[in-house]
Amino acid sequence: MIFYFSGTGNSLAAARYLEKELAERKVDITKAVREKKFSYEIGEEESVGFVFPVYFWGLPSIVAYFLHRVCFQEDRKPYLYGVMTCGSSIGAADKQMKSILEKRGHQLKAVFPLVMPDNYVVMFQAPTEEEVEKILKKTEKEIAVISASVKRKEDGRWSKAKGFALSTVMQPLYRNGRKTAKFHAEDTCISCGKCASICPARAIRIEDGKPIWVKKQCIFCMACINRCPVQAIQYGSRTLKKGRYEHPDIKGEW
Ligand SMILES: Cc1cc2nc3c(=O)[nH]c(=O)nc-3n(C[C@H](O)[C@H](O)[C@H](O)COP(=O)(O)O)c2cc1C
Repeated sequence: MIFYFSGTGNSLAAARYLEKELAERKVDITKAVREKKFSYEIGEEESVGFVFPVYFWGLPSIVAYFLHRVCFQEDRKPYLYGVMTCGSSIGAADKQMKSILEKRGHQLKAVFPLVMPDNYVVMFQAPTEEEVEKILKKTEKEIAVISASVKRKEDGRWSKAKGFALSTVMQPLYRNGRKTAKFHAEDTCISCGKCASICPARAIRIEDGKPIWVKKQCIFCMACINRCPVQAIQYGSRTLKKGRYEHPDIKGEW
């Protein structure tokens, strides 16, 4: 079973690859949380993977929420692994995940970092098409290696102390940040409502044909900004000239 969360398609593309290679079903964490479905039946030989992006060297809030609740039938101790998609580094997000699962009696065997194009346009310029192509060529090779490791149920290597210290500094920025106040739509908005329908936090409502952010905080997945068909959504002035990113294989499909 492959649980996944994705804002802009990277983690979905990785989950799809694993679904095909491992011949295991995938489950959308957003849908599971919405439906409050936390209990799953795992097959005898089945492994359990969690595929999602790294935010501020830690876990997206919705993924942490799900990990705190997910459970399997009592006698089952499946091989548990994580695939963390990231722009460059996962910091000590692996340790954060391990610690949540351990407290719940689950043993996380491995975390595999998977470098993919960076979607954090509030901070960085979106990658160009050429850059995306170059990065994804490497990703293709890396995910094949990851898939082979999962098939062999290999143990992983864990982040070092330095990564842990840095993650400890970064995590409060995510916990106390991810504020929606600066999100807004420009006059170019075509009132299609896509931003509201794709928001995994249900933080957007359409009023008088335009999106408004109705929650103080969201997951900060950047789906609304990156997947708006006319690039009308901005975060203050920080995203004005940053470009947008969505995984090319998934674009327009979801
Ligand atoms: C709020 C936020 C924080 C991020 N923090 C990190 C980070 O700490 N390290 C990193 O390498 N990439 C970081 N990224 C980049 C994403 O992890 C990366 O682009 C990921 O593959 C996006 O996955 P998705 O397309 O499935 O949403 C961040 C992205 C966002 C939106």
